[in-house]
Amino acid sequence: MQLETFLRHQGYSKKQIRQSFLQEKIFIDGRTPRRIGQTIDPGYQKIFLEGEQIKGERHHYFILHKPQGYVTSSWGSVPQTVYELLPPAWRNVPYVGRLDKNTTGLLFFTNNGQLAKVMQQPSSHVVKTYRVTTLEPLAATDSQKFQDGIIIDANTLCRPADFILCDDHTALVTLTEGKFHQVKKMFLSVGKKVIALERLSFGPLQLPKDLGVGQARSLTLGEFNQIRDFFQ
Ligand code: URA
Repeated sequence: MQLETFLRHQGYSKKQIRQSFLQEKIFIDGRTPRRIGQTIDPGYQKIFLEGEQIKGERHHYFILHKPQGYVTSSWGSVPQTVYELLPPAWRNVPYVGRLDKNTTGLLFFTNNGQLAKVMQQPSSHVVKTYRVTTLEPLAATDSQKFQDGIIIDANTLCRPADFILCDDHTALVTLTEGKFHQVKKMFLSVGKKVIALERLSFGPLQLPKDLGVGQARSLTLGEFNQIRDFFQ
């Protein structure tokens, strides 16, 4: 990682970093760096800025099989947040891509701010698949409408979505964007009320079959490599 990127991730502004660099107040293993973009590894080197040691925060990556009834919001902000399902050491790790209170399925968390930003920016078009159950029966023509692009919120055109009809009331829908309540609004625009919604995948991550509802676990090395290769 570059020195400047590392310090930015620790919360220092570009201006502050440049100033400290020019005033020779940054030290890597006791030496002033020659370039602000110099490659460093905080796991192996001691980095000081203005006399303070800057330790790289350990990055956490984990997934939760979210149950119904839990709010995707920070720990303690409202009753019954998803953080109540997590061990205390994970309660300050941000979620990436929220789910509604009554939505179940895959919820990803990381405190790797750079990765979270890329995963959430609209231009990344991260693919998400949902299993959707509706009150009214679905029709084969719904599939075409989703593939053509549904309009929600009166005039917002959604990107084309894959739609696989599983049975009269169930479909698998794959989106490449994440607007607020998007799936529910898309179905309402074809006259169907969503009564159950489950996220099965998020980017390269799949909801593991053996992860029980309400359980969380760290990414496996394989999952971690997939996510790193996908977004970096
Ligand atoms: N779309 C919705 O409407 N709700 C969710 O929780 C996720 C996607």
